[in-house]
Amino acid sequence: MLTCPLVSTIPTLWLFSILLLAVSLNAQNKSWDRPVCTEGIVSVPRGNPAVLTCNISNTFTDITIELSAHGKDRTIFNKRPQGNFSWSGWTLQVQGGEAQLVIKDVQDDHAGMYLWQLHGRQRYYRNVTLNISDPAESSQLQDKPGTLVGVIIVFVLGVTGFIAFIYYRHQRS
Ligand SMILES: *[C@@H]1O[C@H](CO)[C@@H](O)[C@H](O)[C@H]1NC(C)=O
Ligand SMILES: *[C@@H]1O[C@H](CO)[C@@H](O)[C@H](O)[C@H]1NC(C)=O
Ligand SMILES: *[C@@H]1O[C@H](CO)[C@@H](O)[C@H](O)[C@H]1NC(C)=O
Ligand SMILES: *[C@@H]1O[C@H](CO)[C@@H](O)[C@H](O)[C@H]1NC(C)=O
Repeated sequence: MLTCPLVSTIPTLWLFSILLLAVSLNAQNKSWDRPVCTEGIVSVPRGNPAVLTCNISNTFTDITIELSAHGKDRTIFNKRPQGNFSWSGWTLQVQGGEAQLVIKDVQDDHAGMYLWQLHGRQRYYRNVTLNISDPAESSQLQDKPGTLVGVIIVFVLGVTGFIAFIYYRHQRS
């Protein structure tokens, strides 16, 4: 008499807990921020624009960005919510789950390691290094093979001309 309700309760409880687990797993899965950011070292020639991004699968609550360079840490943006913010050459755009840090005209002052403190439903930290390269350096490097070929051609033409000249004079005398 007593076992009857118990027997039917156990499978019901069992089913119910499985259902609860599935629902919570699914809800959890949907709520992870899963950040994807620009990573590693980004090298930008001085005077060019730089764009560093971070995307999450939820909506940003707020974002803090710190710049670490020459052993000093500076807070570039502090707990910025949704919207567009500009400060001393840096622009931060936060829209839904997408964030963009834009520097229109990269200068030495912008170089260093950027630490993102991302706050969606969870908090995540990501960092990326901005390296400033010399625009003249890269064009000089590209010019070098061209210059070398030019020097060789002039040299070969000069030597050929000289030999021809000697030969011509030798023939006449
Ligand atoms: C979680 O989401 C990923 C893709 O967004 C999907 O492949 C995976 O099956 C999901 N897991 C659960 C338990 O829902
Ligand atoms: C973030 O999203 C934007 C817009 O879809 C995309 O252009 C950008 O490449 C994304 N960033 C990363 C690091 O995947
Ligand atoms: C932020 O700037 C982008 C591009 O400049 C623009 O598309 C967007 O509407 C702006 N958002 C706000 C909230 O002003
Ligand atoms: C960063 O840029 C400088 C030139 O401005 C270069 O000498 C250095 O090797 C670069 N560092 C990295 C890690 O790419």
